[in-house]
Amino acid sequence: MKYLITGAAGFIGMNVSKKLIADGHEVVGIDNFNDYYSVQLKRDRHAELEPLPAYTGIELDLRDVDALKALVAEHAFDGVCNLAAQAGVRYSIEHPEVYQKSNLEGFLTVLEACRHADPQPRLVYASSSSVYGGNTKLPFSESDPVNTPISLYAATKRANELMAHTYSHLYGLQTVGLRFFTVYGPWGRPDMAMWLFTKDILAGKPINVFNNGDMQRDFTFVDDIVQGVVASLTADGLAPYEIFNLGNNNTEQLMDMISTLGAALGAKPEMTMLPMQPGDVAATYADISLAVEKLNFSPTTPISVGIPKFVEWYKGYHGIA
Ligand SMILES: NC(=O)c1ccc[n+]([C@@H]2O[C@H](COP(=O)([O-])OP(=O)(O)OC[C@H]3O[C@@H](n4cnc5c(N)ncnc54)[C@H](O)[C@@H]3O)[C@@H](O)[C@H]2O)c1
Repeated sequence: MKYLITGAAGFIGMNVSKKLIADGHEVVGIDNFNDYYSVQLKRDRHAELEPLPAYTGIELDLRDVDALKALVAEHAFDGVCNLAAQAGVRYSIEHPEVYQKSNLEGFLTVLEACRHADPQPRLVYASSSSVYGGNTKLPFSESDPVNTPISLYAATKRANELMAHTYSHLYGLQTVGLRFFTVYGPWGRPDMAMWLFTKDILAGKPINVFNNGDMQRDFTFVDDIVQGVVASLTADGLAPYEIFNLGNNNTEQLMDMISTLGAALGAKPEMTMLPMQPGDVAATYADISLAVEKLNFSPTTPISVGIPKFVEWYKGYHGIA
């Protein structure tokens, strides 16, 4: 089978592309290599894919309507996996316009390209646990109301789900939205807490801990997420419009994550306790029963296993003994 992965130089996109190729598929990857975080990291991830004969990489912005339409028309993809987006809750507080461009205009372009392709591919796209906003009923279930996003990032991800619904309804496009819960692991993102903490602990600096550490997250190891994404692209028996939570189904106290990270780094983290940041939510926790039933999703990696794997990769990548 042949798949288009957008955001292929990103954290999840690179890991998904690698797995699809290892499973015998062909992948065309696109990315605009923007400088939201280290472009070198994106180039290094992409360098993992470029030598693979089943991979074709193209530097392209999602909003290049003509190029994307031509690409999708030319290849007759079995599936398109839209992982390209402006990620990050906190950045959206100060830079809303970037989210409009990549997450709304860019997503519309992807929908249009898929709609006009013949045959139409299945469209799998990244949503986020942040669509649950300030919901307090835990664990979060796909049937819960999601009408109260508390960041523009979350609002764009919810908008993507609604846009996908329209395209499924009007044009028969099969769409699968994936609400990812705090993904971490090798080749991770430098703007996320685990990376920031690791960097500061190794530099002997105190880490910034928000909401005085009173946070819970459903940390999900990247290999488990990849299994769910690949199943979303390949599974039989899915409805024309689907939304799935992809999390670890096991929420962790932030302070437990910090002590597990400290142990993996062989250091006792010093902490600066700070108030809650705007846009952030106190707790995330995924009910994954729907993904278990329809995607055979089975996350298996607790943080006691995943965090040491991240630390080992982080040290290797940065040449730290
Ligand atoms: N990592 C997580 O914990 C998490 C949680 C929830 C949702 N998500 C979503 O999953 C997806 C992948 O996340 P990630 O962690 O791999 O992020 P990432 O930032 O590492 O990857 C996104 C990639 O998309 C590319 N990109 C951004 N805008 C683009 C555009 N307009 N055109 C082409 N390429 C563009 C970026 O250069 C980047 O390489 C995103 O949609 C993100 O919002 C991630």
